[in-house]
Amino acid sequence: MTSVSLPRPAEPSTSTNNETPELQLLELGPGFAVYIGAERDARFIYKEIYEDHCYDIAQLPLNPFIIDAGANIGLFTLYMKTKYPSARILAFEPVPQVFDLYRRNLALHGVPAGDVDAHCCALGSAPATSKPLTYFPNAPGNSTFVPGEKELLRKALPAEHYQRMIDRSSAGATRVDVPVERLSRFLDEYGRGLTRIDLLKIDVESWELDVLRGVDDRHWKMVRNVAVEVSELSGLRQEIEALLRAKGFLVERELAAWSYETAPTYTVLARREGPSNTET
Ligand SMILES: C[S@@+](CC[C@H](N)C(=O)[O-])C[C@H]1O[C@@H](n2cnc3c(N)ncnc32)[C@H](O)[C@@H]1O
Repeated sequence: MTSVSLPRPAEPSTSTNNETPELQLLELGPGFAVYIGAERDARFIYKEIYEDHCYDIAQLPLNPFIIDAGANIGLFTLYMKTKYPSARILAFEPVPQVFDLYRRNLALHGVPAGDVDAHCCALGSAPATSKPLTYFPNAPGNSTFVPGEKELLRKALPAEHYQRMIDRSSAGATRVDVPVERLSRFLDEYGRGLTRIDLLKIDVESWELDVLRGVDDRHWKMVRNVAVEVSELSGLRQEIEALLRAKGFLVERELAAWSYETAPTYTVLARREGPSNTET
């Protein structure tokens, strides 16, 4: 997500307080309430997933294996579990406060614990490291390893009302040291129990290329569909598309419904040619 609820890379403070201060339950759609960190952020992501259907990109088997990189408060996981009740999901959200909301939302919606393997960890290209991530309590979905890139977006959206929104959502920026691990390290834990990855969804605020580089070829062979949200301002889109083509995918891209002309954001969609996507 790179909405206008973006932060400024202002001097973040360093925090060790990982507790969710107070729980806020919000009805995002008819009969659909979730615990949220910030209302505007949650409504934005809800619209992307539940109304714009940005991840309805391929027909998956009835029991898909799905990776949720940038799991945030769980809206993608909940959407996929409603659409595919037998789905197994491997999820990653590095901000402890946000991860806490993710777990609470899955429990609130009765998602069986055994169906989701969730980690409070960032994904990246290097094994077993840790790195400072900038967390925005007023716009948790913007939390990123690359806060400087948000400043480019700020410049690309010069209208005054955007600037005001930006200032509001950037207030209280905090730096949190988070663990970083390669995706293949987690996939290895499944051993022979893993034969196909039906959808790899990545929405990680300009760290997408690193996440992709953390996948080894033995796992790429299993991947059938990839959806990567990428801001053109990150300068990463062409490299991401080239990497996916090199791994044997057909690659397309869709402009996000909310995208701004001066700061386009795409969902890069990659699918394998060959056996049907719904084959189990
Ligand atoms: C825009 S939100 C994702 C919204 C999303 N489409 C969903 O499913 O709800 C992006 C999330 O990615 C997380 N994030 C940032 N860098 C990450 C990384 N390297 N690995 C995993 N998650 C990351 C952020 O903390 C944030 O919660």
